Amino acid sequence: MRVTELDTPVLTVDQDGLEANLKRYHQYFRECGIALRPHIKTHKCLAIAHAQIRAGATGITCQKLSEAEVMLAGGVCADILIPYNIMGAAKLVRLGTLARQCSLTVAADSEYTVAGLGSAAREAGACVGVVIELYQGRTGVESPAAAVALGQRIQAEKGLELRGVMIMPAPPGVRPLLQETLDLFDRQGLPHPIVSGGSTPSALTAHEIPELTEYRVGEYCVGGESHLRRGTHTVEQCALRVLATVVSRPAPDRAVLDGGSKTFSASMLKTDDGPSMGYIVEYPDARFTGASEEHGQVDLSRSVRKPVIGERVQVLPVHPCPCVNEHDEIVAVRQGLVQARWPVHARGCIR
Ligand SMILES: Cc1ncc(COP(=O)(O)O)c(C=O)c1O
Repeated sequence: MRVTELDTPVLTVDQDGLEANLKRYHQYFRECGIALRPHIKTHKCLAIAHAQIRAGATGITCQKLSEAEVMLAGGVCADILIPYNIMGAAKLVRLGTLARQCSLTVAADSEYTVAGLGSAAREAGACVGVVIELYQGRTGVESPAAAVALGQRIQAEKGLELRGVMIMPAPPGVRPLLQETLDLFDRQGLPHPIVSGGSTPSALTAHEIPELTEYRVGEYCVGGESHLRRGTHTVEQCALRVLATVVSRPAPDRAVLDGGSKTFSASMLKTDDGPSMGYIVEYPDARFTGASEEHGQVDLSRSVRKPVIGERVQVLPVHPCPCVNEHDEIVAVRQGLVQARWPVHARGCIR
Protein backbone atom coordinates (compact mmCIF):
# COMPACT_ATOMS: atom_id res chain seq x y z
CA MET A 1 0.00 0.00 0.00
CA ARG A 2 1.20 3.50 -0.81
CA VAL A 3 1.43 6.16 1.88
CA THR A 4 -0.81 8.33 -0.29
CA GLU A 5 -3.60 5.77 0.17
CA LEU A 6 -3.60 6.07 3.97
CA ASP A 7 -6.61 7.82 5.44
CA THR A 8 -5.77 10.95 7.44
CA PRO A 9 -4.95 12.10 10.00
CA VAL A 10 -2.49 9.29 10.60
CA LEU A 11 0.72 9.00 12.60
CA THR A 12 3.64 7.58 10.64
CA VAL A 13 7.27 6.86 11.27
CA ASP A 14 9.77 6.94 8.46
CA GLN A 15 11.90 3.83 8.96
CA ASP A 16 14.93 5.25 7.14
CA GLY A 17 14.92 8.27 9.47
CA LEU A 18 14.35 6.16 12.57
CA GLU A 19 17.18 3.77 11.68
CA ALA A 20 19.53 6.65 10.89
CA ASN A 21 18.88 8.17 14.34
CA LEU A 22 19.45 4.85 16.10
CA LYS A 23 22.70 4.34 14.21
CA ARG A 24 23.96 7.88 14.87
CA TYR A 25 23.21 8.03 18.60
CA HIS A 26 24.04 4.42 19.47
CA GLN A 27 27.39 4.74 17.68
CA TYR A 28 28.17 7.99 19.52
CA PHE A 29 27.47 6.42 22.92
CA ARG A 30 29.41 3.27 22.00
CA GLU A 31 32.40 5.43 21.11
CA CYS A 32 32.07 7.36 24.40
CA GLY A 33 31.91 4.15 26.42
CA ILE A 34 28.58 5.22 27.93
CA ALA A 35 25.75 2.69 27.98
CA LEU A 36 22.57 3.81 26.25
CA ARG A 37 19.27 3.18 27.98
CA PRO A 38 16.53 4.57 25.69
CA HIS A 39 13.46 6.07 27.30
CA ILE A 40 10.46 4.32 25.79
CA LYS A 41 8.01 7.01 26.94
CA THR A 42 8.57 8.70 23.57
CA HIS A 43 7.11 5.92 21.42
CA LYS A 44 5.47 3.49 23.89
CA CYS A 45 5.78 0.94 21.11
CA LEU A 46 7.26 -2.56 21.33
CA ALA A 47 8.51 -2.59 17.74
CA ILE A 48 10.63 0.51 18.28
CA ALA A 49 11.84 -0.66 21.69
CA HIS A 50 12.97 -3.97 20.15
CA ALA A 51 14.81 -2.02 17.43
CA GLN A 52 16.60 0.01 20.11
CA ILE A 53 17.74 -3.17 21.84
CA ARG A 54 18.92 -4.59 18.51
CA ALA A 55 20.88 -1.36 17.99
CA GLY A 56 22.79 -2.07 21.19
CA ALA A 57 20.84 -0.53 24.08
CA THR A 58 21.88 -1.83 27.50
CA GLY A 59 18.36 -1.77 28.84
CA ILE A 60 15.39 0.56 28.80
CA THR A 61 13.98 3.44 30.79
CA CYS A 62 10.24 3.63 31.50
CA GLN A 63 8.70 6.64 33.20
CA LYS A 64 5.86 4.65 34.74
CA LEU A 65 5.46 1.19 36.23
CA SER A 66 2.70 0.36 33.76
CA GLU A 67 5.01 1.15 30.82
CA ALA A 68 7.60 -1.19 32.32
CA GLU A 69 5.01 -3.95 32.71
CA VAL A 70 4.05 -3.63 29.03
CA MET A 71 7.67 -3.63 27.85
CA LEU A 72 8.61 -6.63 29.99
CA ALA A 73 5.55 -8.60 28.85
CA GLY A 74 6.49 -7.72 25.27
CA GLY A 75 9.90 -9.34 25.73
CA VAL A 76 11.89 -6.15 25.13
CA CYS A 77 14.51 -6.67 27.83
CA ALA A 78 14.92 -7.57 31.46
CA ASP A 79 16.92 -4.56 32.62
CA ILE A 80 14.64 -1.64 33.40
CA LEU A 81 15.15 1.75 35.01
CA ILE A 82 12.15 3.70 36.27
CA PRO A 83 13.41 7.21 37.08
CA TYR A 84 10.40 8.04 39.20
CA ASN A 85 9.38 8.07 42.90
CA ILE A 86 7.05 5.06 43.15
CA MET A 87 4.71 5.00 46.14
CA GLY A 88 1.29 3.87 47.35
CA ALA A 89 0.11 0.36 48.23
CA ALA A 90 -1.25 -0.54 44.80
CA LYS A 91 1.92 0.40 42.94
CA LEU A 92 4.27 -1.11 45.51
CA VAL A 93 2.68 -4.55 45.10
CA ARG A 94 3.16 -4.28 41.32
CA LEU A 95 6.70 -3.04 41.83
CA GLY A 96 7.53 -6.16 43.87
CA THR A 97 6.07 -8.41 41.18
CA LEU A 98 8.09 -6.62 38.50
CA ALA A 99 11.28 -6.81 40.55
CA ARG A 100 10.91 -10.60 40.75
CA GLN A 101 10.93 -10.80 36.95
CA CYS A 102 13.71 -8.44 35.91
CA SER A 103 16.64 -6.37 37.04
CA LEU A 104 14.82 -3.28 38.26
CA THR A 105 16.25 0.07 39.28
CA VAL A 106 14.07 2.94 40.44
CA ALA A 107 14.77 6.51 41.48
CA ALA A 108 14.16 8.00 44.90
CA ASP A 109 14.58 11.43 46.40
CA SER A 110 13.02 10.99 49.85
CA GLU A 111 13.01 8.69 52.85
CA TYR A 112 9.29 8.24 52.26
CA THR A 113 9.93 6.69 48.84
CA VAL A 114 12.82 4.59 50.16
CA ALA A 115 10.73 3.16 53.02
CA GLY A 116 7.98 2.11 50.58
CA LEU A 117 10.46 0.56 48.14
CA GLY A 118 12.14 -1.35 50.96
CA SER A 119 8.94 -2.90 52.25
CA ALA A 120 7.82 -3.76 48.69
CA ALA A 121 11.13 -5.50 47.99
CA ARG A 122 11.03 -7.50 51.23
CA GLU A 123 7.37 -8.42 50.76
CA ALA A 124 8.14 -9.73 47.26
CA GLY A 125 11.40 -11.39 48.27
CA ALA A 126 13.10 -9.44 45.49
CA CYS A 127 15.96 -6.98 45.15
CA VAL A 128 15.18 -3.44 44.05
CA GLY A 129 18.03 -1.22 42.89
CA VAL A 130 17.81 2.46 43.75
CA VAL A 131 19.45 5.52 42.22
CA ILE A 132 19.19 8.88 43.92
CA GLU A 133 17.98 11.72 41.74
CA LEU A 134 19.92 14.97 41.99
CA TYR A 135 17.73 18.05 41.69
CA GLN A 136 17.79 19.99 38.44
CA GLY A 137 14.44 21.75 38.58
CA ARG A 138 11.88 18.95 38.86
CA THR A 139 12.41 16.25 41.50
CA GLY A 140 15.59 15.20 43.29
CA VAL A 141 17.61 15.84 46.44
CA GLU A 142 18.90 19.36 46.69
CA SER A 143 22.51 18.82 47.71
CA PRO A 144 25.35 16.26 47.59
CA ALA A 145 25.12 15.97 51.40
CA ALA A 146 21.41 15.12 51.14
CA ALA A 147 22.26 12.50 48.49
CA VAL A 148 24.76 10.89 50.87
CA ALA A 149 22.26 10.88 53.75
CA LEU A 150 19.64 9.22 51.53
CA GLY A 151 22.26 6.78 50.22
CA GLN A 152 23.03 5.68 53.76
CA ARG A 153 19.32 5.27 54.43
CA ILE A 154 19.01 3.05 51.31
CA GLN A 155 21.94 0.93 52.39
CA ALA A 156 20.28 0.33 55.75
CA GLU A 157 17.07 -0.86 54.09
CA LYS A 158 16.97 -4.63 53.51
CA GLY A 159 15.85 -5.58 50.01
CA LEU A 160 17.27 -2.41 48.45
CA GLU A 161 20.58 -2.01 46.66
CA LEU A 162 22.11 1.45 46.28
CA ARG A 163 23.14 1.72 42.62
CA GLY A 164 24.20 5.36 42.31
CA VAL A 165 22.74 8.62 41.06
CA MET A 166 20.74 10.07 38.18
CA ILE A 167 20.27 13.57 36.86
CA MET A 168 17.88 15.17 34.39
CA PRO A 169 18.79 16.94 32.17
CA ALA A 170 22.54 16.43 31.85
CA PRO A 171 24.23 19.30 29.99
CA PRO A 172 27.99 19.67 30.63
CA GLY A 173 27.24 22.26 33.32
CA VAL A 174 26.00 19.58 35.74
CA ARG A 175 29.46 17.97 35.93
CA PRO A 176 30.66 19.84 39.07
CA LEU A 177 27.52 18.74 40.97
CA LEU A 178 28.07 15.14 39.89
CA GLN A 179 31.76 15.27 40.80
CA GLU A 180 31.07 16.71 44.24
CA THR A 181 28.37 14.11 44.90
CA LEU A 182 30.48 11.16 43.74
CA ASP A 183 33.44 12.40 45.74
CA LEU A 184 31.29 12.46 48.88
CA PHE A 185 29.94 9.00 48.04
CA ASP A 186 33.50 7.68 47.73
CA ARG A 187 34.53 9.22 51.02
CA GLN A 188 31.56 7.59 52.75
CA GLY A 189 32.11 4.25 51.00
CA LEU A 190 28.82 4.42 49.13
CA PRO A 191 28.68 2.54 45.79
CA HIS A 192 27.71 4.27 42.54
CA PRO A 193 27.94 1.77 39.67
CA ILE A 194 25.27 3.80 37.86
CA VAL A 195 25.73 7.49 37.08
CA SER A 196 22.84 8.20 34.74
CA GLY A 197 22.36 11.33 32.64
CA GLY A 198 19.49 12.09 30.31
CA SER A 199 17.68 14.14 27.65
CA THR A 200 18.11 14.40 23.90
CA PRO A 201 19.19 18.07 23.70
CA SER A 202 22.34 17.35 25.75
CA ALA A 203 22.94 13.79 24.51
CA LEU A 204 25.76 14.53 22.08
CA THR A 205 27.78 16.39 24.73
CA ALA A 206 27.68 13.44 27.14
CA HIS A 207 31.41 12.81 26.47
CA GLU A 208 32.11 16.05 28.36
CA ILE A 209 30.95 14.30 31.55
CA PRO A 210 33.24 11.26 31.82
CA GLU A 211 31.65 10.32 35.15
CA LEU A 212 28.49 9.16 33.30
CA THR A 213 28.13 5.40 33.04
CA GLU A 214 24.82 5.45 31.19
CA TYR A 215 22.41 7.80 29.45
CA ARG A 216 18.63 7.99 28.99
CA VAL A 217 17.35 9.36 25.69
CA GLY A 218 13.79 9.36 24.43
CA GLU A 219 13.14 11.73 21.57
CA TYR A 220 16.45 11.10 19.80
CA CYS A 221 14.90 8.28 17.80
CA VAL A 222 12.28 10.36 16.01
CA GLY A 223 13.01 14.05 16.68
CA GLY A 224 10.34 16.70 16.20
CA GLU A 225 10.01 20.39 15.39
CA SER A 226 11.89 21.45 18.54
CA HIS A 227 14.84 19.23 17.56
CA LEU A 228 14.76 20.57 14.01
CA ARG A 229 14.93 24.15 15.30
CA ARG A 230 17.69 23.26 17.76
CA GLY A 231 19.67 21.64 14.98
CA THR A 232 20.04 18.15 16.47
CA HIS A 233 17.85 16.66 13.72
CA THR A 234 17.38 17.45 10.02
CA VAL A 235 13.96 17.26 8.40
CA GLU A 236 14.84 13.73 7.20
CA GLN A 237 15.88 12.73 10.73
CA CYS A 238 12.52 13.92 12.11
CA ALA A 239 11.03 10.51 11.48
CA LEU A 240 7.68 10.91 13.24
CA ARG A 241 5.19 12.59 10.94
CA VAL A 242 1.48 13.15 11.02
CA LEU A 243 -0.12 13.02 7.58
CA ALA A 244 -3.01 15.46 7.49
CA THR A 245 -5.43 16.82 4.90
CA VAL A 246 -6.34 20.47 4.28
CA VAL A 247 -10.09 20.47 4.86
CA SER A 248 -10.76 24.19 4.56
CA ARG A 249 -9.25 27.42 3.26
CA PRO A 250 -11.57 29.86 5.06
CA ALA A 251 -9.46 32.91 4.17
CA PRO A 252 -6.69 33.59 1.61
CA ASP A 253 -4.02 33.27 4.27
CA ARG A 254 -5.48 30.42 6.28
CA ALA A 255 -5.70 26.67 5.97
CA VAL A 256 -7.36 24.21 8.33
CA LEU A 257 -6.02 20.67 8.82
CA ASP A 258 -8.11 17.61 9.73
CA GLY A 259 -6.22 17.15 13.00
CA GLY A 260 -6.02 19.26 16.15
CA SER A 261 -5.05 18.63 19.75
CA LYS A 262 -6.43 15.08 19.65
CA THR A 263 -4.00 14.28 16.83
CA PHE A 264 -0.93 16.36 17.65
CA SER A 265 -1.48 16.82 21.44
CA ALA A 266 -1.79 20.33 22.87
CA SER A 267 1.99 20.83 23.00
CA MET A 268 3.08 24.24 21.77
CA LEU A 269 6.54 25.48 20.99
CA LYS A 270 7.36 29.11 21.66
CA THR A 271 9.32 30.46 18.70
CA ASP A 272 10.44 33.93 17.63
CA ASP A 273 7.56 33.80 15.13
CA GLY A 274 5.00 32.99 17.83
CA PRO A 275 3.54 29.65 18.96
CA SER A 276 3.94 26.54 16.84
CA MET A 277 2.18 23.18 16.97
CA GLY A 278 4.19 21.58 14.20
CA TYR A 279 6.36 22.05 11.13
CA ILE A 280 4.73 21.46 7.76
CA VAL A 281 7.32 19.77 5.58
CA GLU A 282 5.89 20.81 2.20
CA TYR A 283 5.25 24.42 3.34
CA PRO A 284 8.14 25.40 5.64
CA ASP A 285 7.04 29.06 5.68
CA ALA A 286 3.52 28.21 6.83
CA ARG A 287 2.92 28.44 10.56
CA PHE A 288 0.81 25.90 12.43
CA THR A 289 -0.28 28.34 15.12
CA GLY A 290 -3.00 26.60 17.07
CA ALA A 291 -5.72 24.00 17.17
CA SER A 292 -9.00 23.00 18.66
CA GLU A 293 -9.68 19.30 19.19
CA GLU A 294 -10.04 18.29 15.53
CA HIS A 295 -8.99 21.38 13.58
CA GLY A 296 -5.45 22.58 13.05
CA GLN A 297 -5.09 26.28 12.20
CA VAL A 298 -2.38 27.20 9.71
CA ASP A 299 -1.27 30.75 8.97
CA LEU A 300 -0.17 31.03 5.33
CA SER A 301 0.62 34.74 5.31
CA ARG A 302 4.38 34.16 4.88
CA SER A 303 4.05 31.25 2.50
CA VAL A 304 4.20 32.19 -1.18
CA ARG A 305 2.88 28.77 -2.17
CA LYS A 306 -0.38 27.77 -0.54
CA PRO A 307 -2.02 24.33 -0.29
CA VAL A 308 -5.41 23.71 -1.85
CA ILE A 309 -8.42 22.05 -0.24
CA GLY A 310 -7.99 18.27 -0.27
CA GLU A 311 -4.19 18.44 -0.38
CA ARG A 312 -2.23 16.24 2.04
CA VAL A 313 0.73 17.47 4.06
CA GLN A 314 3.29 15.96 6.42
CA VAL A 315 3.57 17.61 9.83
CA LEU A 316 6.44 17.16 12.29
CA PRO A 317 4.88 17.45 15.76
CA VAL A 318 6.67 19.77 18.17
CA HIS A 319 6.83 17.15 20.90
CA PRO A 320 6.69 13.51 19.82
CA CYS A 321 5.89 11.92 23.21
CA PRO A 322 2.39 13.34 23.90
CA CYS A 323 1.58 13.15 20.18
CA VAL A 324 2.21 9.38 20.09
CA ASN A 325 0.05 8.97 23.19
CA GLU A 326 -2.93 10.26 21.16
CA HIS A 327 -2.68 7.33 18.72
CA ASP A 328 -3.46 3.61 18.76
CA GLU A 329 -0.87 2.82 16.12
CA ILE A 330 2.12 4.16 14.26
CA VAL A 331 2.28 3.31 10.56
CA ALA A 332 5.84 2.39 9.57
CA VAL A 333 6.70 3.67 6.08
CA ARG A 334 9.70 3.45 3.81
CA GLN A 335 10.13 5.30 0.53
CA GLY A 336 6.45 5.99 0.12
CA LEU A 337 5.26 2.48 0.94
CA VAL A 338 3.52 1.22 4.08
CA GLN A 339 5.65 -1.49 5.73
CA ALA A 340 3.77 -2.26 8.96
CA ARG A 341 1.29 -1.00 11.53
CA TRP A 342 2.83 -0.88 14.98
CA PRO A 343 0.44 -0.73 17.96
CA VAL A 344 1.27 1.89 20.61
CA HIS A 345 1.17 -0.79 23.29
CA ALA A 346 1.81 1.43 26.30
CA ARG A 347 -0.56 4.18 25.18
CA GLY A 348 -2.23 5.75 28.21
CA CYS A 349 0.04 3.94 30.70
CA ILE A 350 0.20 6.67 33.34
CA ARG A 351 0.24 4.66 36.56
C1 LIG B 1 13.89 11.12 33.71
C2 LIG B 1 14.00 11.33 32.24
N1 LIG B 1 15.05 10.79 31.60
C3 LIG B 1 15.20 10.93 30.27
C4 LIG B 1 14.28 11.62 29.52
C5 LIG B 1 14.47 11.69 28.03
O1 LIG B 1 14.54 12.98 27.56
P1 LIG B 1 14.44 13.24 25.98
O2 LIG B 1 13.05 12.89 25.61
O3 LIG B 1 14.78 14.69 25.83
O4 LIG B 1 15.42 12.35 25.34
C6 LIG B 1 13.18 12.20 30.16
C7 LIG B 1 12.20 12.98 29.40
O5 LIG B 1 11.30 13.61 29.92
C8 LIG B 1 13.03 12.05 31.56
O6 LIG B 1 12.00 12.58 32.22
